[in-house]
Amino acid sequence: MLVVEDSPLYSAEFFADGDPWAYLADLRENHPVSVHRRADGYEFYALTRYADVYAAYVDHHRLSSSYGTMIDGSYRPEKDSASGRMLIVADQPEHAALRKPVKSSGFSREMLGKAGRTVRRNIRGALDRLSVGDRVDFSKAVAPELPKGVLEVLFGIAPQDAGALLEATRTMIGYRDEAYVGSSPLDALVDAQLEVLEFIDDLISRRISSGSSDDMIGFLAQLVAADQMPRDVALLNGLNVAVGGNETTPHTASLTVETIHHERAQWQKVVAGDVPFDVATQEFLRWTSTNSYVQRLTVEEFPVGDHVIPANSFVTLWNMSANRDAAVFDRPDAFVIDRPDNKQLAFGAGVHRCIGAPVASLEIQTFLEELAAWDKAFVVVDRPQRLHSNFMLGLTELQVEVVDAKDVGA
Ligand code: HEM
Repeated sequence: MLVVEDSPLYSAEFFADGDPWAYLADLRENHPVSVHRRADGYEFYALTRYADVYAAYVDHHRLSSSYGTMIDGSYRPEKDSASGRMLIVADQPEHAALRKPVKSSGFSREMLGKAGRTVRRNIRGALDRLSVGDRVDFSKAVAPELPKGVLEVLFGIAPQDAGALLEATRTMIGYRDEAYVGSSPLDALVDAQLEVLEFIDDLISRRISSGSSDDMIGFLAQLVAADQMPRDVALLNGLNVAVGGNETTPHTASLTVETIHHERAQWQKVVAGDVPFDVATQEFLRWTSTNSYVQRLTVEEFPVGDHVIPANSFVTLWNMSANRDAAVFDRPDAFVIDRPDNKQLAFGAGVHRCIGAPVASLEIQTFLEELAAWDKAFVVVDRPQRLHSNFMLGLTELQVEVVDAKDVGA
């Protein structure tokens, strides 16, 4: 089995300035299971083929989420400090018990409808503010409007508060990127985490006082008031939803605009009504693969093909690589806007499959619908700045010029 010392998969710079797609394609082709070591002793196994990644996702008995789903999220053999109390780092049976109230209060059909309307209003507002000839950074001027609308509804908060919360969660996740945190990453991470926790804790207090359960935080707060959920559990899962929601779709939207710039003729098929918006949405999700990987820890031996990964090993499941696997996708390295039967794995699979997947898809689809209906278009005018992170694929800056849609044929 290939063992890589000092692997580039640890390097945020490699993901910003190198070619992780090509590196992973080589692993997928020649070394479907590989070990990646770092000088300080940390090591993980990497799974890169669709079938292996999928099999690992659905085997939650042998692969635990409790030790952190990010490389460095926690250090062996410590469990994550929120383990068992926050969705993303909980195993069964605690995970199922947590997922039910979060899903029913935050991700019901009714909440999805409300969130969709708010997201559309926000996107339309942001696009309406732009005139032909404007030059803006799309990642700041428009992209945050997607999760902002969801936060407003799920947390029952005003647009300005949703904006402030978004800034803080951004610092938490993109914390290695100087675009967000300056040169003191650890301080910035701790400060941002405290700010988000205090904000949600204050919301819980207010919902307990008012007795309101109209939004997700209100519903969880009433469980706290009735002694059916510890307060720290409500807090941690509010945090999980805020981070999961904020740090993904804005990046997907920015990468979507960059892709449209390069694939104008394909986009035109959507604008003309020849490709349904939901079909295009799935391909943008596959192509952008915003959450590049997740990590697990084997609690017993885990066989993959001819290999056996020993117990107590970190294993990383590379979504971005699975989404380019020729065994599943015809012409995997081509963007195909009308790709049929798209089995993209951007949201993971199994019991932890993204709880926000329907709302994330709705955000992207709504964005595409508004963009297609707009009488203007974005043209990328400078080299996009990639996020310094191996966990999230995104842009910290996307300079665009607003042009008349007729001038680019879309
Ligand atoms: C394009 C957008 C998104 C992508 C690519 C994405 C990706 C993922 C992935 C791969 C997982 C599985 C993690 C694992 O198995 O360890 C996940 C879980 C999760 N996501 Fe998302 N996500 C997106 C949007 C959202 C949104 C909009 C929300 C909330 C509003 C959200 C909230 C969560 C939460 C709370 C979990 C944990 C679920 C659990 O452990 O049961 N995500 N996401």
